Amino acid sequence: MSGKITLSVIKADVGGYVGHSCIHPDLLKTAEERLSNASEKEVLIDYHVSRCGDDLELIMTHKHGMDNEKVHKLAWDTFVACTEIAKELKLYGAGQDLLQETFTGTVKGMGPGVAEMEFEERKSEPVIIFMADKTSPGAWNLPLYKIFADPFNTSGLVIDPAMHEGFKFEIVDVYERKKILLAAPEEIYDLLMFIGAMRRFIIRNVYRKKDGELAATASTQKLSLIAGRYVGKDDPVLLVRCQSGLPAVGEVLEPFAFSHMVEGWMRGSHHGPLMPVPFYEANPSRFDGPPRVIAAGFQLCGGKLIGPRDLFDDPAFDLARKQANEISNYLRSHGPFEPHRLGLDDMEYTTMPHLMEKLSSRFVPE
Ligand code: 13P
Ligand code: 13P
Ligand code: MG
Ligand code: MG
Repeated sequence: MSGKITLSVIKADVGGYVGHSCIHPDLLKTAEERLSNASEKEVLIDYHVSRCGDDLELIMTHKHGMDNEKVHKLAWDTFVACTEIAKELKLYGAGQDLLQETFTGTVKGMGPGVAEMEFEERKSEPVIIFMADKTSPGAWNLPLYKIFADPFNTSGLVIDPAMHEGFKFEIVDVYERKKILLAAPEEIYDLLMFIGAMRRFIIRNVYRKKDGELAATASTQKLSLIAGRYVGKDDPVLLVRCQSGLPAVGEVLEPFAFSHMVEGWMRGSHHGPLMPVPFYEANPSRFDGPPRVIAAGFQLCGGKLIGPRDLFDDPAFDLARKQANEISNYLRSHGPFEPHRLGLDDMEYTTMPHLMEKLSSRFVPE
């Protein structure tokens, strides 16, 4: 065991209430009991059970490092126990994100989303955990770029000596399963060429250039690629460390004052605006959306999670919510037309192969 702290956030949709809009309180209660038990047995230092829409989010701190079997198994068993309750109550899509029958050492590749970071806790360690529903991991690309590479968002990049050299972005090509490190500010045009294509190139980690300190990490699992077929959108999480030579809490939240467009929403097959909401408003109901993001702020204290503070519970984000509603009306007016509906290759639901077959004889040379 190292002296470092590991912050692990492992999440899964194991049953929606009602439909895909929220989670039943019994699931939260079961998860709470499981993690509380693990804290008593000293597997965990601390935990917090959260949820965004229909996604159950296990926020855990411990000293076992990343990809630890005990911690991953605890999360897996918790999801299995919650799935049992979801089945008893006939909740919607019980066990939706659990793609395997048996645990084999890590939850990676088994369905749940994972974001973990291991670090030496600083004198003061503010962290923000962003959790989104009805979208996919590429949703973090735009805000991460603004936080760590855009001086119009983060004035610290210009005026804080610790950040002035910039940051490095680790980008994963989720189709080719390759990764690349690109540096800002000197490579921002290259960087943007990749991360602007956010269904394929996804930012996984951000490091401070000066000393390699890990500043942010995102879940990059894409369920549709894992399963090779539609199994629900891979609603993502993002962890960001803040202050003292890293972007301030306000700089990290600032990009979400713009309700940018993401993939997801109804049937995982539409574009929609990402609406920043307080915890109690993370219940996507209109056309199963629009996509939501919540921000839970914690101060770490010897691994204890002091918090959460509900960081989007602030009227300063009212305009972003209004903007998201206006964009929703505009997009919804397109009905089944692109670009509201995703392109043919990106829809999670499609009748196209069936139609092509059924109508093949009626296709004639034009
Ligand atoms: P620190 O450099 O102490 O993180 O302060 C920056 C700040 O909070 C300004 O908003
Ligand atoms: P979830 O991925 O949040 O379960 O949503 C799936 C869906 O089809 C919503 O319409
Ligand atoms: Mg669901
Ligand atoms: Mg979900």
